[in-house]
Amino acid sequence: MRRVKTFFIAGAGTDVGKTYVTAALARALLRTGRTVGVFKPVASGYDPARPEESDAGRLLGALGRPLTPDNVAAICPLRFAAPLSPPAAARREGVTLSLESIAGLCEAEIRAAETDILLVEGVGGLMSPLTDDATGLDLMLRLKAPSVLVGGTYLGAISHLLTAAEVLKSRGLEIAVVVISESPPPAPDFEETIADIGRFLPGLPLYAAGRVDDWRADALAGRLVGA
Ligand SMILES: Nc1ncnc2c1ncn2[C@@H]1O[C@H](COP(=O)(O)OP(=O)(O)O)[C@@H](O)[C@H]1O
Ligand SMILES: [Mg+2]
Repeated sequence: MRRVKTFFIAGAGTDVGKTYVTAALARALLRTGRTVGVFKPVASGYDPARPEESDAGRLLGALGRPLTPDNVAAICPLRFAAPLSPPAAARREGVTLSLESIAGLCEAEIRAAETDILLVEGVGGLMSPLTDDATGLDLMLRLKAPSVLVGGTYLGAISHLLTAAEVLKSRGLEIAVVVISESPPPAPDFEETIADIGRFLPGLPLYAAGRVDDWRADALAGRLVGA
């Protein structure tokens, strides 16, 4: 069986730009001629009236696939309305999430993937609750895929990023690359923040995603294709 090259897109925090980076990366990988799949096992804050604004909608857009209910469900099988952590949002709909079933969905996706590369976007920050007794880190430990660690540049972002990197390292999980996605103003200087982060993470490939309309992730894609 051919095993798809899988990367887990992990966030140093919530709203740091995981979907933005995943979408840009998917588009860049497609430009290299690779086939790409994306998966977002769980999403909260999902508004069925505006699927185009959801992570699944944005990821489908990046793949150039139509925004149909079936495609949304295939990319993001567990969707909840409340803009809360997944277990809190699920609770409001009478659903109890389990690591076993979420990991099972991801493993089935990886097994069935017929693409060259599969990008799995995590939920929230690295240790955001995923179920009542598991965090996103527990899912990463199950999947053991190398990660694309995404951080922001808001004041305090460096600590969040270094903490996340330290936790991944201490748990034996590989960080393939770090991507810094520029936070909206007010935020400290972007270039200066990137340089500061680089000094604290020697040896890790670092990519900067500036706040431009269409950040091209070609260099990052090239790195992952060669990884
Ligand atoms: N580098 C960037 N340039 C422009 N917009 C960005 C960038 N990073 C994030 N955003 C925007 O910020 C918001 C939060 O990013 P998103 O990718 O949804 O974060 P996450 O998936 O980590 O929750 C989105 O509206 C997204 O388009
Ligand atoms: Mg997202």
